[in-house]
Amino acid sequence: MQEKFLFRDIVMSKKHLVRFATLTDLSKIADVAQVTWDDTYNNIIAPENRREFLERAYKPENLAPTINSDGHWFYVAECEDEVVGFGHFLRRYHPTQARAELVRLYVLPAYQSMFIGTTILETGFDALARANIEQCFVSVQSSNKQARRFYERHGFSFHRTHGQFLGTQIITLVEYIRAIGNADIKA
Ligand SMILES: CC(C)(COP(=O)(O)OP(=O)(O)OC[C@H]1O[C@@H](n2cnc3c(N)ncnc32)[C@H](O)[C@@H]1OP(=O)(O)O)[C@@H](O)C(=O)NCCC(=O)NCCS
Repeated sequence: MQEKFLFRDIVMSKKHLVRFATLTDLSKIADVAQVTWDDTYNNIIAPENRREFLERAYKPENLAPTINSDGHWFYVAECEDEVVGFGHFLRRYHPTQARAELVRLYVLPAYQSMFIGTTILETGFDALARANIEQCFVSVQSSNKQARRFYERHGFSFHRTHGQFLGTQIITLVEYIRAIGNADIKA
């Protein structure tokens, strides 16, 4: 139980613990994705489909344009100088509304339920609000109960269900929506 308060305590003492990702973080981000995907989607996504997706989506040269780039907010969470989680928000074009999407949020299994996901989420909401974004979307694999509960607790509400190809499979996703506003700006 003591451990549960570890990250919150570190956050309070070292405010820079969640920070923007840099190019030198990319290989570590790929490692975190690999371990967390294997743990989360072990029974849901076939190993071959997981491997192919991760190789493509987390190849450093494919991720590099999202780092330090307009319309992207890519964060890493560090614990004792190790990258243990990451979150990536991006601006989504819409003709009348300023929208963004949380496209990745992963915390290493050994570091989950320590407030890290919440800290990344709140850091991102603060940045989105300052950029005048009005709505944030996120899509979650429908049977991922832990993540769904997490988003619902953080103000996301059901928007729609949709399917997406992942290699040879079709994955069912639940899309959530959350309003972003001044209340998300931290003092
Ligand atoms: C979903 C995920 C990103 C959440 O991140 P996290 O760091 O585990 O989340 P937090 O610790 O901030 O909050 C998780 C839970 O711990 C609890 N918690 C957080 N800090 C706590 C603390 N200091 N003491 C006690 N409980 C705490 C929260 O109440 C929360 O409970 P809930 O899940 O019932 O809502 C993470 O668990 C993860 O990576 N999961 C696997 C991958 C995944 O599903 N990603 C989302 C893809 S869309």
